[in-house]
Amino acid sequence: MKIAIIGTGYVGLVSGVCLSDFGHTVVCVDKSEAKIAQLNSGKVPIYEPGLDVLLAKNASAGRLSFTTRLSDAVDGAEAVFVAVGTPSRRGDGHADLSYVFAAAEDVAKALTGYAVVVTKSTVPVGTNRKVAEIIHTANPEAEFDVASNPEFLREGAAIEDFMRPNRVVIGVEAGRAQEILAQICRPLFLRDFPIVYTGLESAELIKYAANAFLATKISFINEISALCERVGADVKAVAKGIGLDGRIGSKFLHAGPGYGGSCFPKDTLALARIGQEHAVPQRITETVIAVNDGVKRRMIEKAVNLCGGSVAGRKIAVLGVTFKPNTDDMREAPSLTIVPAMIGAGAKVHVVDPQGRREGEALLPGVTWEDDAYSAASEADLVIVLTEWNEYRALDLAKLAQAMSTPQMADFRNIYDRETAMNARPR
Ligand code: UDX
Repeated sequence: MKIAIIGTGYVGLVSGVCLSDFGHTVVCVDKSEAKIAQLNSGKVPIYEPGLDVLLAKNASAGRLSFTTRLSDAVDGAEAVFVAVGTPSRRGDGHADLSYVFAAAEDVAKALTGYAVVVTKSTVPVGTNRKVAEIIHTANPEAEFDVASNPEFLREGAAIEDFMRPNRVVIGVEAGRAQEILAQICRPLFLRDFPIVYTGLESAELIKYAANAFLATKISFINEISALCERVGADVKAVAKGIGLDGRIGSKFLHAGPGYGGSCFPKDTLALARIGQEHAVPQRITETVIAVNDGVKRRMIEKAVNLCGGSVAGRKIAVLGVTFKPNTDDMREAPSLTIVPAMIGAGAKVHVVDPQGRREGEALLPGVTWEDDAYSAASEADLVIVLTEWNEYRALDLAKLAQAMSTPQMADFRNIYDRETAMNARPR
């Protein structure tokens, strides 16, 4: 089956590569000539473990290709996946749908026969019906149905999530479209991964509700963590103690410097706006957002307190700046709030990250980039563990402390045992 994917961002690219690995013929489209040239030469513009190998394998098998010409991709395709960006609209937090609607119009004009137009981008309730209207208006002759197929992949584990999903959600109303999508997902179905067929609105809302729920767990444990600190409890023990209850579950209960990334901040904000728009305020989600903003402020206060009330003139080493490990993505990373606050307060900030420098250089002006944790920590007054890359999970704490001016660590990811860390300080 021929499939077109519009947009070679994170979701589009991973989906395109994985669908071609299922044996489908996939043509990915992007407006950026530079990106398409890069992809055609086998280079992956993002850091995602394993993606380059899978891309090369399927491209050389002739199942996967990249083009800037949307009409070539859509011509003869039975399914067209729209995977363009839906960033937060500046100022109001609504999802910006201009790319989705523009793609729908372009697809409408390029359709040559029946196709199901599937929205993979995260879009507010009602968008798929609007997409159908746009296609119909732009090309009244077009034979098509729309479907919603939200993507739940995590950066850094995207291929695993695509190939072994907890579930696949498909919002679809027409039998013909459902059949095509069932055929596309057949390899997953054969491997017993559940597929949830539902209506368009439900599928659209499932994505937001899933992300808001996970963000809620994180904000919940981050608030509990603040209380733990005040009363002398250990948040890791509390998380373990509650997570072992199967109704709660142990995942997404790691306290940290606040959630970031391309999904949780944007989607919680969009869900809150959707609720307000429909006069059904999503008060829990609104609070989750406020708590997350507060967590980052609390981390800044912690660092300042560790430096005796002021970071002016102090050297601070920050280990990890991406929003989580195994990605080069800096979107909404806690570092983007915490590091500028330190610099604004007069600190000399030295940072290190295995993948973050390329994007981070422009986003974190005024920092000094280092090659490894120990050189970042040299003569420092404080080390902040901000992103839990493997490289920072098993540091030689004695060596680190030895290199520092004042051996202090703010372990914002709760990796190290407090007593072990304290004992590693020079005597
Ligand atoms: C998330 C969802 O997991 C995925 O299903 C959805 O499609 C897109 O958004 P992603 O943004 O790649 O994926 O990262 P994820 O691993 O979920 O982490 C999101 C943020 O939450 C990170 O900043 C992470 O550090 C933070 N987090 C996660 C915590 O602070 N504590 C946790 O226990 C888990």
